[in-house]
Order: sequence, then structure tokens, then C-alpha cells
Amino acid sequence: PTKLRVSQALSGAELGSNIKVQGWVRSVRAQKANVFLHVNDGSSLQSLQVIASSELNDPLLTFGSAVEVTGILKKSPHQKQPVELDAKQINVVGECNPVDFPFKIKERHGLEYIRQFPHLRCRTNAFSSLLRIRSEATAAIHSYFKDNGFVEINTPIITSNDCEGAGELFQVEPSGPDHADGENFFSVPAYLTVSGQLHLEVVSGAFSKAYTFGPTFRAENSQSRRHLAEFYMVEAEISFTQSLEDLTKVMEDMFRFATEHVLAHCVEDVDLFHKHVTPGHRDTVDAMLKNSFPVITYREAIDILRRSSERFAFPTDWGCDLKTEHEKYLVKHCGNIPVFVTDYPYDLKPFYARDNQDHPERTAAAVDLLVPGVGELCGGSLREERLNLLSARLEEAGLEDVYSWYLDLRRFGSVPHGGFGLGFERYLQCILGVDNIKDVIPFPRFSHSCLL
Ligand code: 4AD
Ligand code: MG
Repeated sequence: PTKLRVSQALSGAELGSNIKVQGWVRSVRAQKANVFLHVNDGSSLQSLQVIASSELNDPLLTFGSAVEVTGILKKSPHQKQPVELDAKQINVVGECNPVDFPFKIKERHGLEYIRQFPHLRCRTNAFSSLLRIRSEATAAIHSYFKDNGFVEINTPIITSNDCEGAGELFQVEPSGPDHADGENFFSVPAYLTVSGQLHLEVVSGAFSKAYTFGPTFRAENSQSRRHLAEFYMVEAEISFTQSLEDLTKVMEDMFRFATEHVLAHCVEDVDLFHKHVTPGHRDTVDAMLKNSFPVITYREAIDILRRSSERFAFPTDWGCDLKTEHEKYLVKHCGNIPVFVTDYPYDLKPFYARDNQDHPERTAAAVDLLVPGVGELCGGSLREERLNLLSARLEEAGLEDVYSWYLDLRRFGSVPHGGFGLGFERYLQCILGVDNIKDVIPFPRFSHSCLL
């Protein structure tokens, strides 16, 4: 027999041939003469219908068991599916006790329920759809950058810099008897990266356009629905920028490209979310794609918040950080589509942000992209490329020695440049309408939880 993936069998390839599929039973129904199975192998949301005479039935053939089925692939007489497998042989490869198995046949378990079983949840339709969408979105983002002349850089996971300066670092030290003397392995404190930005700046200073897409770590103590201790960030850095528009254009283009790609390539998986898991969200996604993203300044954002009748828990004075509640309000105010907020107070932004040198409100050329349901999706800025301004700011912070190499970038061929980071899990939340970030990553890490 020819071994086929379920998706290949469903596409009608090899009709009439003797084939073999391997997968997990998603449903089983015995009648007098026949037994009907649905077998899923993760290659698509759809399962392959298998029909077998009851002699092939086996008490171990239960929901969740792993099977190998050999038989003839036929056109199905039923409307609901194109093909069915007329089984000649069924092997139960791995049994599954349906009483102990946490998922029940024909039940639509909620995301919150299945989250309790991180080692088993990819056996559910919803989570396997999510993982296929995540994989396709990853591919789309890589192809966007490849098509647009960016070089992909593997920025380090272990680093001695704290790019964001927000004090959310995980320190890295070896363990085990060889290191018991407390000697510092790297001779300097080393951390898991909070952002690859500074390394990308090194590379964009020779390649003009560079990006990275990798794991990022932050010791956030919040149990929020949009923070993880380990998340994936897409970061891009672009040389010879004229203004923030050079960045907002890339952010918006990438968002559109990836989203349209996912909608076109994961039709059934996205439909499962938009119809059953997060009903109604498709309208939000369509509106996001139909309209161009408005741009407002931080000053305008503050004015909007102060004029509103909403009672916010956090202050809305000029100089205050925008909190999730503010971000969500601004998104709604702008028509429930993504909105760029630019030119934040200089003092709110890290040392690398470019000084707008404006008065009396001193701002930095920074931009966040806020999106429906999530709030901040991207953070970016023009970088301070002027040696005198950058060294003054680093000196003020007592960081000029730590960042002498970073200052060198301004000494040797400095150019105006900028970049941004997009939180990949928040992106998935945004296009699928998923409320909790823990439901869009295979193995979530957050405070007081590191399962598996
Ligand atoms: O705004 P952030 O902190 O920006 C930076 O790190 C810049 N150095 C990026 C750059 O310019 N290259 O983080 C960027 C994005 C946020 O907008 C958010 O979407 C996401 O990363 N993010 C998180 N996602 C999940 N869990 C967390 N704890 C996150 N912290 C930030
Ligand atoms: Mg930010």
C-alpha cells in the first residue's frame, strides 16, 4: 500500500488505490455490519472516514487510540466528505482508555479546559488548528521579509545587555557539581534576551535591512492574558529611515501580508476559530484588512482619553504610560481597527529612542501599534544615531562603558535607522480573537508555571 497523509487522501489523490494511513481515532461508531471511524493525523482539520466490516472491530479501537489502517480509497457516497477508506486491515498501535482520557468524544471542550493538559491538547481540533495556523503564520512572516530584501539574523538567546532596561531579566548561570564554586561562567552577568534589537542594529549597520524571529524572555510577574515569560518576537531593523512612516509602513504591510496569507492558506482552521471558538471575530479581522491603520500622536491619544466619559483605573495625564485599558479604549475610539500611536514622552522610552528635540513636551520618535482585543502588538522607534546625544544619555544613566560598542556604531558610519518588534503570540490572539495568550503557544511559560 501507498502511505498517505490524511490530507493527501482527502484531496482525492490515489483514488482506487490500496493505501495506508496512520493517525489517531477522532470518532468511532459501530453498527451491526460495519464500524465507522474518523482518523486524524494532524495534516488537516478534517479526518478521514474509514469504513470496515465489523470483523475488523476491536475493543481497543476507542476515541484517542492510535491506529494504522490499510484499504482501498474510494469516492464517498455521502455529501459531507469526498472520499472514504474501505478498510481491509486495522492495527491498533497504541490504546487509549476513554475513561481516563481527559477529552470526550463529540464534545467541544473550551480553550480553558484543554489548557490544563498541555501534553495532550494538540489532540483536540481547536488546538491542532491553532498550531497549524501558527506554523503557517510563521512561514508567511519569513516570506514577507525575504520578499522585501531583509536578511534573517539569529540574534543570541544569551546576552549581557538589557536592551529595554525594564529590569525583567532572567539571569543565566550553569548548575551542577562542576560549577559549585560559584564562579561566574561568562565572567559577566548574562541573561536570557529581552530583545534582539541591539544585535540587529549591529547587522542593519552593514546590511541595511535585517530581521529576527525568535524566543524572547521577560520575568513579568503579571498573570495577565497578554504576557508570557517566554514569547516569540518578530523584530526588524532598517537603515536610512527618513521618519516613523518608514517603520509604520513595514509594520502595516507585514500585518496585512501575514494575515491575508493565513486566511487564504488555513481556511478551515481559521473558520473553526471564527465560527465556533471565537464567534463573530471574522468581522473584526475583515475590518482590520479593509481600512488603512490610522496614526495618532501620544498627545492626541491623551486628549482622546481625557475627553472620554470612561472611568479609567490608571491616570491619563501627559507623561503617563498607556495601560491596557487605555490602549483598548483608543482602538475602539478609532473604529476597532489597528491604530498607531507615535511620539511618546522621551522619558517613557529606553535610551536608544531618538530624541525629537521638541518643546515644551519633549518626545521621542517612538511608535506602538495597538490592535483590537489585545492593545499593544508592536513597539518600535527611530534610534538615536547622533553620537553626542546618545553618549550624553548613556552617561546620564551610567551606562556609557557597558554600551561602548553600541556607541561605536555611531562612530563608524552611523545612519538614521529604526525598527520594531511584534509580539507573535499577541498577533495570533489578534487575528483569531483568542482572549488568553496561553492558548496560542504550544507550551506557555509564566510566573508560577513551567509545566513539561
Ligand atoms: O515593546 P517591546 O518591549 O519592544 C522591544 O522590545 C523593542 N526592543 C523591539 C524592537 O524595537 N526591536 O516589545 C515588543 C512587543 C510588544 O509590543 C508586545 O507585543 C510583545 O513584544 N511583548 C510580549 N508578548 C508576550 N509576553 C510578554 N511578556 C511581552 N512583552 C512584550
Ligand atoms: Mg512596548
